[in-house]
Parts: sequence; C-alpha cells; structure tokens
Amino acid sequence: MSEQGKQKRHREETEHDMMNLIENLKRGDDVKYNRRAFIKSMTGATVALGLATIPFQIVSANKKADKDARVKIAELASLPKGSSVNFSYPTEGDTAILVHTVEGELVAYNNKCTHLQCPVFYEKERDILVCPCHRGFFNIKTGHPMEGPPQRELPLIELEVAGGAVYAVGRKYRHE
Ligand code: FES
Repeated sequence: MSEQGKQKRHREETEHDMMNLIENLKRGDDVKYNRRAFIKSMTGATVALGLATIPFQIVSANKKADKDARVKIAELASLPKGSSVNFSYPTEGDTAILVHTVEGELVAYNNKCTHLQCPVFYEKERDILVCPCHRGFFNIKTGHPMEGPPQRELPLIELEVAGGAVYAVGRKYRHE
C-alpha cells in the first residue's frame, strides 16, 4: 500500500473511532439520564406509597387509642333481653348500638352500615341488625353482613360488665 493509501486508511479509522466515541458518550448520557429519571420516579413512588399508607397508620394508631377508653354505656337493669340502646364510642361521632339479645348475650357495634353509613337498628323478632336504607342485614352475634349490599362487618365494640353496668372498653376493626 502506498504512503497516501496508508494515510487515507488511517484518517478513515480515526473518523470511525471518533464516531464511536461520540455514540458512546451519548449512550453514557442516556444511562446517566435514565438513572436520574429512575431515581426520581423511585423517590416519587416511595413518597406516594408513604402517603397512601397514612390512613392505615392512623387506623392502627386509633386502634391503640381505642383500647384505652372506658366508657359507661348503661345500667344492665335498664336493658332487658331483646332490647337495645344507642351510644357513641370512642368519639361522639362514632355512633354505636348495644344489644341485649333475646338469648341473653351482650353485643355492641358501631352502628353505621358498612354500605352507605345509614344507622342500623336491632330487630328483636328476628334477632338481627337491620339497615333500613337498602335492606342490609347483619348477624347479631358477629356483626357480619348476611344479606343485602353491605360487604363488610360492623366494627365490634368490646364490652365489660362491672358493678351492674355495661362499659365500652375497646373497638376492633376486623376487616383490613
Ligand atoms: S346503607 Fe345500609 S344497606 Fe345501604
């Protein structure tokens, strides 16, 4: 190969190397930008996830707080079998119902229907809790939905009987 030919080939190879170098630099940028975008999106996702779990954290905190409250509901003597009384627990806004069932059990639940929040009432004849809005029925012993639109059970109020009176001492959400 002549000297001129050698120089031409060398120039072509150098240009080719330069092109590859530029391509690689661009690719390096891509990796850098993609990494940055990835880190950004992961940070966003972590923040979003954190925000999304706040309600559950609050519920857990409330569960703990609910445990400490002890509120007198009624004198047992004023609540014969087959009757009920409304009260609030653990806050004024959390309306509830205490039932002395036909069989003699004491049970209590927050009384907002788990469908669309109408207050449920006790129907002595069938020994069940009834939501009048869309005919939702709840099992009196468990608070679980039996019929109608409600899908979730009513929050359970834990009870204690002392000195002839019934107390609310805690609340349990059984549906996570
Ligand atoms: S609100 Fe209770 S069944 Fe709809």
